[in-house]
Amino acid sequence: MSIPAGKLPLPELLAMKRRGDKIVMVTAYDAPGARFAEDAGIDVILVGDTAAMVVLGHSGTTPVTVDEMLFLTRTVSRQVHRPIVVGDLPFGSYETSDEDAVRTAVRFVKEGGADIVKLEGAGPMVSRARAIVEAGIPVMGHVGLTPQSATMLGGFKTQGKTAEAAQRLVEDAVALEEAGCFAVVLEAVPAPVAAEVTRRLTVPTIGIGAGPDCDGQVLVYHDLLGLTEGHLPRFVKRYGNLSREIRDALESYAEDVRSGTFPEEQHTYEMPFEELEDFERMIESPSSSKPSAQATKSSSRPTNAQLPAPRSEPPLRKTSSP
Ligand code: KIV
Repeated sequence: MSIPAGKLPLPELLAMKRRGDKIVMVTAYDAPGARFAEDAGIDVILVGDTAAMVVLGHSGTTPVTVDEMLFLTRTVSRQVHRPIVVGDLPFGSYETSDEDAVRTAVRFVKEGGADIVKLEGAGPMVSRARAIVEAGIPVMGHVGLTPQSATMLGGFKTQGKTAEAAQRLVEDAVALEEAGCFAVVLEAVPAPVAAEVTRRLTVPTIGIGAGPDCDGQVLVYHDLLGLTEGHLPRFVKRYGNLSREIRDALESYAEDVRSGTFPEEQHTYEMPFEELEDFERMIESPSSSKPSAQATKSSSRPTNAQLPAPRSEPPLRKTSSP
C-alpha cells in the first residue's frame, strides 16, 4: 500500500468525517507495533494506558505512571511518520487541576513526541481539556466506559443504557467538543446512542464497542491480533491468533535446542582453515604456540588463545549484522 509522505494533518480527520471516510485508529506501545500500524495505513496510533494491562501485566489501567507512558509514547512517536500519535494521560496526572493537566500534556508533547493527548471523562475534565487546548495542544476526549474510573462506574460495564444516562452521555460529548476537543472516543456505548453523538458533533467520534455509525473505530493492538489471552470484551474482533503462533514458535525453539537440531550449519560462523589449524595446534600444546602472522603484524598484545580463559565467555551471538 502506498502511503503519502508527511504527518497526517489534524484537520484531515474533520474532512474525513465530512466525506464519510472512516478513521482507523489502533493502539501501539512499541517500535514494531508502531511500524506495522504505519505500514498498514493506520491514521491514528493511540499509545493507550491499556499498556498497563497488555504490556505491564496490571489488572487495570490506573497503576501506569507518567514516566512509563512517556517511555512508551516516545518509542512509538520516534518510529512513525504519517499517523497521528496520541499520548494517553494516565490516571492521576490531570484530574487534580487544570495546571497539572497542562503540565502533564506538555510533557507528553515535549518528552513523548505525542502529536495530541487523550484524557478520560467529562464534568470537571471538560475544564482540563479546555486548559490543554488553550495551551496549544490538541485533545481527544473519551466518554462512555472510562476504564480509569471503572470502580466508580461499577466495573467494566456498558454505559448510557438508560434514556437518562444516554442523554447525559450526549451532553458530555457535546461539552468536550465545545471545550475544543478535536475528536471524542466513545467506549462501550449502545450503538443508537453513539450514532446520536456522532450526528450531534462536528468533530469525529471514534468508537470502541459503540457500533458502526461512529466516524472511526479503535481497537487494542493485543486484542485484535490475538495476543491477549483469556476473556475479551464482546466488541473485540480478532484478526489474528498471534499468541498461538508465538507459543508454537517458542516450543519448537526449546525442542530444537534440547534435541541439538538448532543451531544448524547455516546459523554458525566459520574461520579460515589455516587459522583453525593454528588454533588447534595452540590448544594441543599451548607452550609451543606461535602467534599467527596477522596477530604479529597488527598488535603486540597476546591473542585470546594465549590468555587464560575468562571465567565466563559470552556466547557468540548471530545478529543481523554478522
Ligand atoms: O487506553 C486505551 O487503549 C484506550 C482505548 C481502549 C480507547 O483508551
